[in-house]
Amino acid sequence: MLRWVVVHGMCGRLCFCSHSRVVFVLICNLFLFIFSNEKLPFAGFIGSISSLAVKLIRLLPGGAKYLNKEQKKVMDKLTSGTKGKELWATELPKQGLGPQVIERMLEIKKQDKPWEGRCSGAVYIGGTETEGHFRLVNEAYCMFAHTNPLHPDVWPSIPRFESEVVNMTASFLGSKLQASGGMVCGNMTSGGTESILMAVKTTRDYMKASRGITAPEMIIAESAHSAYDKAAQYFQIKLRRAPVADDLRADVKAMKRLINKNTIMLVASSPGFPHGVIDPIEELSALALQYNICLHVDLCLGGFVLPFAKKLGYPIPPFDFRVAGVTSISVDVHKYGLGPKGTSVVLYRNHELRKYQFVAVTEWSGGLYVSPSMAGSRAGALIAAAWASMMSLGESGYTQITRKLMEAARNIKLGIPDIEGLYVLGKPDMTVVAFASKELNIYKVNEAMAEKGWSLNALHKPSSVHICVTLQHVDVVDKFLDDLKAAVKYVRDNPGKYEDGMAPIYGAGATLPDRGTIRDILVDYMDSTC
Ligand SMILES: *Cc1c(COP(=O)(O)O)cnc(C)c1O
Ligand SMILES: *[C@@H]1O[C@H](CO)[C@@H](O)[C@H](O)[C@H]1NC(C)=O
Ligand SMILES: *[C@@H]1O[C@H](CO)[C@@H](O)[C@H](O)[C@H]1NC(C)=O
Repeated sequence: MLRWVVVHGMCGRLCFCSHSRVVFVLICNLFLFIFSNEKLPFAGFIGSISSLAVKLIRLLPGGAKYLNKEQKKVMDKLTSGTKGKELWATELPKQGLGPQVIERMLEIKKQDKPWEGRCSGAVYIGGTETEGHFRLVNEAYCMFAHTNPLHPDVWPSIPRFESEVVNMTASFLGSKLQASGGMVCGNMTSGGTESILMAVKTTRDYMKASRGITAPEMIIAESAHSAYDKAAQYFQIKLRRAPVADDLRADVKAMKRLINKNTIMLVASSPGFPHGVIDPIEELSALALQYNICLHVDLCLGGFVLPFAKKLGYPIPPFDFRVAGVTSISVDVHKYGLGPKGTSVVLYRNHELRKYQFVAVTEWSGGLYVSPSMAGSRAGALIAAAWASMMSLGESGYTQITRKLMEAARNIKLGIPDIEGLYVLGKPDMTVVAFASKELNIYKVNEAMAEKGWSLNALHKPSSVHICVTLQHVDVVDKFLDDLKAAVKYVRDNPGKYEDGMAPIYGAGATLPDRGTIRDILVDYMDSTC
């Protein structure tokens, strides 16, 4: 659809001269035609030419206006799903609703989809909102909903909870067993992204102070989370992205080639979000030690699973502070820690490093101020509820949960290749299983699954889809595989179906060479939603 709108739509109403219009459409069609084929060695080169073409068109009389208008048309199609906005509140009710606001919320809540057992990732706690662990976490939250760790004199319970959450997390990620000196320490943050932002910022400032690096660069694998792009943009660090190896793990040699005198850190994921494979952490550690640079391990997804999987006997290579070159770790309590959304931990090998995370202000008329992370006021309730989750489950709980998760993921891993036309990408180490097809458009399979109520993640490079297995899925593995089989058959039997839906958008997103235009469309999309 994107392709249709961009090219044919553009032919429709042109406001610049017909000559440039013909040239433009020819260029677009040429590139789009070439890039229907995903794997071309000269993709980068064509990509830059294509971006250039779009830039040239922007320079033509009326060209910019025209492109913007066409971009808007794509946007309108993308956002056509958000109907009924007329009923949204645009100002305060003249007369407050009082307690009846709850009824209004129940009404609005009806637009949410059933999520139980259907979403990849998203909800990690098992069961429904009103029972079991869910209820316990919610109760803990309510008990401390009014607290703010910015006022430890009033609520000393919150720093205690935070310190205990950090200490407990560090204890199963090698803090007690690390060979070199120093004491592992850290802080809680609002999520994986903030933990990563903090680790990157801290590393940048540490490397500036200790090594005098003022034009910092960081090296990540293509599979590392988008939070590193965010960190690079926010903190003015040059991001160098290395392709992954054939097994989809970080390619150590490729990363080594990108190291130079400005490199402050390498990133390893354990596992990475897209394909659920663990990067070669020991090799990357050796590299970091050799060049005297930092190594961050992204355990956002794996932190609350891998230590327990290892105990259960799964073959998991070392991934935490026991590996000598690891300087920082991010680990999400709000994923497999089964805490409330908005809880994560960032850990450092020692206090020498963590010092650079804090911001101290001495000249403010508001008084002396020191803050550990991005936020000022923080929700004490989230910290308390994370603590409640960890204390209530304990080692026994997490071990039991990990066993269930690993078995469910294993059955999915084994079941997918039995479906004709599908294969599993790489060798998933944990609970994320990505799959693709050599003969069918996998994004169409994803849409057929969406029609059956599933919400999976579409990936690209290569085009694929994944499911991140949570406790929500352990009882529906067979249903998932049955639905997937039926979806594949449906797409095979109905080749014309889904030509108009999201599949072509993902397809174009994966293959369109002009990344600049795609970035613009993504930003416009975000800007348009409210
Ligand atoms: C989820 C995730 C993140 C980011 O976490 P948020 O909590 O969504 O900010 C980072 N890295 C990996 C590997 C993840 O799975
Ligand atoms: C988080 O940072 C603050 C610094 O403001 C510190 O006082 C607090 O103890 C830290 N939390 C933990 C668990 O170390
Ligand atoms: C645990 O917490 C205490 C008190 O906050 C702190 O002094 C200690 O360094 C922590 N230990 C570890 C291993 O993180």
